[in-house]
This record gives sequence, C-alpha cells and structure tokens, in this order.
Amino acid sequence: MASYHLKLLVYFLVLIVFVLFSSLHHVNSSSTSPREEAHALLNWKDSLHGETPAALSSWVLPPIHANSSHHCRKWFGISCNKAGKVVEINLTNTGLVGTLNSFPFSNLSNLNRLDLSINQLSGPIPP
Ligand SMILES: *[C@@H]1O[C@H](CO)[C@@H](O)[C@H](O)[C@H]1NC(C)=O
Ligand SMILES: *[C@@H]1O[C@H](CO)[C@@H](O)[C@H](O)[C@H]1NC(C)=O
Ligand SMILES: *[C@@H]1O[C@H](CO)[C@@H](O)[C@H](O)[C@H]1NC(C)=O
Repeated sequence: MASYHLKLLVYFLVLIVFVLFSSLHHVNSSSTSPREEAHALLNWKDSLHGETPAALSSWVLPPIHANSSHHCRKWFGISCNKAGKVVEINLTNTGLVGTLNSFPFSNLSNLNRLDLSINQLSGPIPP
C-alpha cells in the first residue's frame, strides 16, 4: 500500500516537474555551462543513499581534457541539445534511493523532461 502511494506520488512529481519546466523554460535563461551542469548532477549523485546504482556508474567526472559535453554522450539517462545543455533525464527504475534536496533544478535551465519514476526518492522538491 505504502509503496503504491509512493509510486503514485512519484508519477505526480514527474508530471509537476514536466509542467514546471515547460513553463519556466524561457524565463530561466541563467547560463550554467555544460561542464557545470555535469558537476551539479554529480553533487546530487553523491547525495544519494547507499550504494551507487549500477545505472549511475557511468556518471563520473570527465577526463580533464574531455569535450565539455562528454556527459551528454557517456552518462546513462542524459540527453542534451546541440549546445550541450541537458534537456532530458530519464532514470526510471534504476534503484535510486535518496532525496531531491540537492537535485540541481536551478542549474539545469534547459531541462524539460525528467523521469524519476519507480525509484525510492522521498521528500520535497526544492525550489
Ligand atoms: C548551481 O546554481 C547555483 C545557483 O544558481 C549556483 O550557486 C551554483 O554554483 C551552481 N552550481 C554549479 C555546479 O554550477
Ligand atoms: C564536442 O563534441 C561534439 C559532438 O561530438 C562536437 O560537435 C563539438 O564540436 C565538440 N566540442 C569540442 C570543444 O571539442
Ligand atoms: C524513460 O525510459 C523508460 C524505459 O527505459 C520509458 O519506458 C519511459 O517512457 C521513459 N520516460 C520518458 C519520460 O521518456
């Protein structure tokens, strides 16, 4: 029962986030660089509880001289636009356990699709 509710909640969150970003998309044009976006995502990854899910094992710091949109091509679940900005994150059913407290919503100004369904994420969505 509890997990059913959680699942519903998470689907709801996905929907909210989708709508939120669709509407904020053009307002929030702050310019976090592709490299900074990757770092911000790594901060969130580090905040997750327990062992890093296998799906996120590709989420590691790019080599120092790597192309700045390295994570767009090498990280699981990430899609970017031509400018190397993250536009979609799909981590459905990847065994994530934790919160969204340090999810970098404010840094991912081009994100318009986020699917975190079927994971164990809890707590509020940060501003
Ligand atoms: C993310 O954005 C916040 C506020 O907009 C900023 O203070 C922080 O430095 C950014 N983080 C990264 C990794 O760019
Ligand atoms: C990074 O890779 C993309 C796609 O392979 C390419 O279009 C872009 O020019 C590269 N940027 C740099 C700085 O090498
Ligand atoms: C995320 O990926 C799963 C399967 O990998 C797919 O079923 C789901 O529709 C995708 N979500 C989005 C928002 O594209």
